[in-house]
Amino acid sequence: MLDQKLYILMISAHGLIRGHDMELGRDADTGGQITYVVELARALGRNSNIAQVDLLTRQIEDSKVSPDYAAHIEKLGPNAHIVRLPCGPRKYLRKELLWPHLDQMVDRCLHYLRQQGRLPDLIHTHYADAGYIGLHLSNLLGIPQIHTGHSLGRPKRERLLAAGRKEQTIERQFNLSQRIAAEEETLVHASLIVTSTSQEIEDQYGMYENTDPRRCRVIPPGTDTSRFSPPGRKLIDPNTQTGVDRFLSNPKKPMILAICRPDTRKNLDGLIKAYGSDQALQDIANLVIVAGSREDIRMMEASQREVMSDLLLDIDRYDLWGKIAIPKHFTAEDIPELYRLAVRRRGIFINPALTEPFGLTLIEAAASGLPIIAPEDGGPCDIIANCRNGLLVNTLNHTNIASALKEALSDRKRWRDWSRNGITNVRRHYTWDAHVTKYIREINKLLRKERKRLRRQFAATLHTDWAPIPLARKMIISDIDNTLLGDEQGLAELLQWLRAHANTVSFGVATGRSVESAVKILKKWHVPMPDILITSVGSEINYWPSLRPDQGWSNHIRHQWRRETLAEALQAIPGLTLQSHENQREFKLSYSVTPEQMPPLEQLYQYLHQQNLHAKLIYSHETFLDVLPARASKGLAVRYLAYKWGLSLRNFLIAGDSGNDEEMLVGDTLGVVVGNHSPELEPLRGLEQMYFANNTYARGILEGLEHYNFAQ
Ligand code: GLC
Ligand code: MG
Repeated sequence: MLDQKLYILMISAHGLIRGHDMELGRDADTGGQITYVVELARALGRNSNIAQVDLLTRQIEDSKVSPDYAAHIEKLGPNAHIVRLPCGPRKYLRKELLWPHLDQMVDRCLHYLRQQGRLPDLIHTHYADAGYIGLHLSNLLGIPQIHTGHSLGRPKRERLLAAGRKEQTIERQFNLSQRIAAEEETLVHASLIVTSTSQEIEDQYGMYENTDPRRCRVIPPGTDTSRFSPPGRKLIDPNTQTGVDRFLSNPKKPMILAICRPDTRKNLDGLIKAYGSDQALQDIANLVIVAGSREDIRMMEASQREVMSDLLLDIDRYDLWGKIAIPKHFTAEDIPELYRLAVRRRGIFINPALTEPFGLTLIEAAASGLPIIAPEDGGPCDIIANCRNGLLVNTLNHTNIASALKEALSDRKRWRDWSRNGITNVRRHYTWDAHVTKYIREINKLLRKERKRLRRQFAATLHTDWAPIPLARKMIISDIDNTLLGDEQGLAELLQWLRAHANTVSFGVATGRSVESAVKILKKWHVPMPDILITSVGSEINYWPSLRPDQGWSNHIRHQWRRETLAEALQAIPGLTLQSHENQREFKLSYSVTPEQMPPLEQLYQYLHQQNLHAKLIYSHETFLDVLPARASKGLAVRYLAYKWGLSLRNFLIAGDSGNDEEMLVGDTLGVVVGNHSPELEPLRGLEQMYFANNTYARGILEGLEHYNFAQ
């Protein structure tokens, strides 16, 4: 059904992700999303339409966590791997602290893809941080992005505000404005948003300015049902059983089971109140709460500590000793056993949360044959409708919770029907294979559209097909005026050479012109669009197709750049007049110079220095003065490209004709000075890797290509 088997790059940046013994609930970042991404990657890898799935995550080298999280590659199953790349410091960081380090992940990923020798067909990002990484990769590589939010910042902020938390403290703890900005940007860019329920689209994505419902698809996640099955005649793991029973005076009673992270939103206090205030309920059933493994509650993070302490205090307050179990240690492997134990005891699973976007544990319970009680909200409404295996309840009201529990436990025959319904219907609606079938249908449609669009764009480039930068082995960067352009016949020959080598050699220009002006002059000379445009004297890098700016470069050069203050300070300098408006850019202030009046450059530097201003001054043709961030220039832009795209400088051929090309011509790159060069480049003669061509303009570049045997 597809033209070619697909390579999918999944990104899920934070948390502790591994393929076995997942440490769910270890902290707020290691929860449902971890299971989701690992199982989706596995299920995709099993599918015959998929060639390769890489699940990209952060590499963590920290003695406080398992060395498993430091392994560069981990196999998940057929065609599926976890790939761990460094991102910021080595130690484990909670997700709110990752933001400043995400650009590094983008760059590392580019290098990783170069090693793969193939680019993904699709980038699928999970949560806002990965959305940011994927957005940049997608822009750099021209690969479509699809996104799954998992949880969103705007509803979270609203919830916290409603709970009476102060805007400022919320911001300090959760870094929400950065997260929301990244979410909005991702929503603008992503070709598809995958959600688990339709309520998620309306209620949660609905809070965003850039949500386009036409690009949202509900594809409920699967559960790895192989792990969750009814107990049958099998013995329950005695360790799991003792872990529960040691709390209970009468363990044989039906068991009300709740499994969730110790998080205020999960409403465990509501559940305790429901159970604690209802003697009849206590008489017929025990309550078992599994809320994350713990060592010492005092060592848990503040919000979790609070939930756990309240829990213990409430148990005492309602005097529930002997009726309630809160097992202390358990692993992901114990969870299926807990459900089975609850089935054996004719119990019920309850999710007491106030809201529930999806409800993974409800599906797990259903697959185990354990009937469920769940909040009348989002995911549970879909699940109960699909599975017909329990009751919905208004979890805001604790007497409602208690009545629902009593009702559910009162009818043996109905309990058996619910149990059976859950098992069959989960298989029908909530397996990963069912998910992947829908998923592939959607991305197939998307990729077809995308290919059509790309084909239209290629018509204007050198390429007959897509030869993306990460797969190129070499790069040519040429100045535009008087180097690339100037001789029509030579230009035609050079373009022919570039076309013939388009699959291995990327082509870029570097110029003082703005990107608009560069595109205009290239069009005038009928030059197809280069892969890279370094413009405004190196202060901007853009990629074809669609002239996407390299955000990483902007972020890098922004350092110490105070444009307005610089402009003010330079007003006082004689001999400088601002150039026209279109030559002024975010990272470039440009002046026309009256040379007799302008003070020498050293004096200008000194003057700026005294005012604690940092900038690079580029003086050319005795006519122009460009003021750039200290980190910007054509030469530095070339070095950045080498670093970013994982090519050594020796694989760059640089061509130029005048003084403002000097800086990018010298150094480890292969320099070519065309025959028609200005006298100011004469001093470069004799330098290593600096070829002075006899031919002029584009013919000079061709001569240089031959001199260096660049096609090899
Ligand atoms: C181009 C730009 C101008 C700049 C000059 C020198 O002409 O348009 O703004 O000053 O190059 O780099
Ligand atoms: Mg020039």
